[in-house]
Amino acid sequence: MSFRVQPAAPARPNRCQLFGPGSRPAIFEKMAATAADVINLDLEDSVSPDDKPEARKNIIQAIGDIDWGTKHLSVRINGLDTPYWYRDIVDVLEQAGDRIDQFMIPKVGNASDIYAIDALVTAVEAAKGRTKPVALEVIIESAAGIAHVEEIAAASPRMQAMSLGAADFAASMGMQTTGIGGTQENYYMHRDGQKYWSDPWHWAQTAIVAACRTHGVLPVDGPFGDFSDDEGFRAQALRSATLGMVGKWAIHPKQVALANEVFTPSDAAVTEAREILEAMEQAKRDGAGAAVYKGRLVDLASIRQAEVIVRQSEMIAG
Ligand code: COA
Ligand code: MG
Repeated sequence: MSFRVQPAAPARPNRCQLFGPGSRPAIFEKMAATAADVINLDLEDSVSPDDKPEARKNIIQAIGDIDWGTKHLSVRINGLDTPYWYRDIVDVLEQAGDRIDQFMIPKVGNASDIYAIDALVTAVEAAKGRTKPVALEVIIESAAGIAHVEEIAAASPRMQAMSLGAADFAASMGMQTTGIGGTQENYYMHRDGQKYWSDPWHWAQTAIVAACRTHGVLPVDGPFGDFSDDEGFRAQALRSATLGMVGKWAIHPKQVALANEVFTPSDAAVTEAREILEAMEQAKRDGAGAAVYKGRLVDLASIRQAEVIVRQSEMIAG
């Protein structure tokens, strides 16, 4: 480990973030009744410009009126390139109760974007005497966002989570695709007459995970647009979990169970992790730094790997 110890990310489950348009209040109760860990009430791209004021009112009312249980409650504001974002923050923080946990900032490009949000949020909180500081999460969904991903992760102590937004990211990067996440038809290797599809999101995801883990922020995979394709969603989510992400968005309620299943370590995985820890305990008692578990090497690094799985499972259970 470096002299600077890696900070822990917030110890709360973030397996699924369920989105719903602020202009569709009829689904808010249904959102609260799902098994999603995080709820994202949207003021941005699922709300048309004419509906923004009404959507703000709906969300302000729902924050106080609906029983959100233990869910982490987040409101996605509009981007800093729009005329809407300051009023999203001011109206919600001046008029809504303190049940709101977090704002989501879309299309973040650099640390100064977070600085501006932090300054405004801090001023409104102080003016209104709000005692519960609102957390921030961001979407990395532009070339600038991924180029400045580390300074964004480090930009404020309010920062808790960071998601990859595949659709806007693809547009900003000039990628030749219209799919929202998952396998892309033209991104393949070719050999002996066979196509082998590869993962065009891999680099961005890994960059996000590295920035998040360096600064104690939760890395999250964003939307998977084709909500009729459960296997496609599962494959995307499994790749994200393998890379270190802790959860994924749901843009339809049927995706919640899929995300929870993938991002909850399975009983088999937890059992194996505990067995590895036990094998290493035995190795220590025998005065050895390495051991053999099911025919493969385990050593001190294996302890740290196994602990990731055990800790995640205990945090979700507890
Ligand atoms: N959260 C909770 N419940 C939802 C829901 C959501 N996001 N979307 C739909 N439902 C409900 C519907 O009201 C319906 O309930 P019912 O069985 O009681 O009638 C049920 O789930 C099935 O819905 P369905 O008919 O399959 O979908 P739809 O046509 O009503 O809505 C979408 C589909 C994609 C428009 C809708 O899911 C949606 O708006 N998703 C979020 C979009 C968003 O926020 N995007 C921004 C982030 S990318
Ligand atoms: Mg977007």
